[in-house]
Amino acid sequence: MNNKPLALVTGASGGIGEDIARELAQKYHLILVARSQDKLEVLAKELGGAEVIALDLSTPTAALELKQQLEQRNLKPSVLVNNAGFGEYGEFHLGEAKKLEQMLMLNMVTLTMLTRYLLPDMMAAKNGKIMNVASTAAFMPGPLMAVYYASKAYVLSFGEALDEELKGTGVSVTTLCPGPVKTGFQDRAAMNDSKLLQSPMNPMMDSREVAKQAVVALESKARVIIPGFMNQILTLTPRFVPRAFVPTIVKNAQARNH
Ligand SMILES: NC(=O)c1ccc[n+]([C@@H]2O[C@H](COP(=O)([O-])OP(=O)(O)OC[C@H]3O[C@@H](n4cnc5c(N)ncnc54)[C@H](OP(=O)(O)O)[C@@H]3O)[C@@H](O)[C@H]2O)c1
Repeated sequence: MNNKPLALVTGASGGIGEDIARELAQKYHLILVARSQDKLEVLAKELGGAEVIALDLSTPTAALELKQQLEQRNLKPSVLVNNAGFGEYGEFHLGEAKKLEQMLMLNMVTLTMLTRYLLPDMMAAKNGKIMNVASTAAFMPGPLMAVYYASKAYVLSFGEALDEELKGTGVSVTTLCPGPVKTGFQDRAAMNDSKLLQSPMNPMMDSREVAKQAVVALESKARVIIPGFMNQILTLTPRFVPRAFVPTIVKNAQARNH
């Protein structure tokens, strides 16, 4: 291992997390976490060496297991990027119960507990940066992806509150809120039928561009970053529309296109 500071990225085997890892690699020695060990090994090689931890983060004990693995290897990251997450498209009552539970575990519980486990060392060192990946979905209720939107609202609320609590400690929390980004997310969420993805008003962004903006925000300790002008406008909508109408607007926007 070299003398660079350590940065841990969850969900580094693809999509936004992989590109965030690439962006961070100049300055940090990386700890790459996801389930796909083979993809992580390939990325680690490309980056000239990185720590690889293959782990399913959607179980109730995942954050504790990861903490223990870090301790065994004597790895103390000063940057934590909680990026791993997934969504599921469709009516709530038809959603597979186990999958919904895993989504809540991954998107909220593991993110929170990993932050809880790694924060004390950062605070003791008066040096740490945390990035949690939410979504523009965090700003509104999302019929047809109700659990996913609610999980991202949690991530945004938690991150904003914690960043305020940590003022003056040398540790910051940045919440990244991307709009649609072309990654493996859409296939995994089975949402390719959603009108949202065909909207000419708001085309999908490139994950490299999102990652670039995310890392600039992380380094400057920004509290919230919403990449893309249209996404910034979109997140303001709920402030100007009566609350009762917002779910209807989102439901129409993400209805099936046939
Ligand atoms: N793409 C979008 O439109 C969009 C928009 C807003 C927010 N986001 C958020 O951005 C984050 C990254 O998503 P993405 O678009 O990059 O999706 P992606 O291409 O599907 O990548 C997801 C990453 O998370 C990892 N992951 C998934 N389930 C996991 C599990 N149980 N345990 C450990 N790792 C797991 C995946 O690796 P393995 O499969 O190898 O485990 C992969 O590395 C997510 O939090 C997502 O909600 C995405």
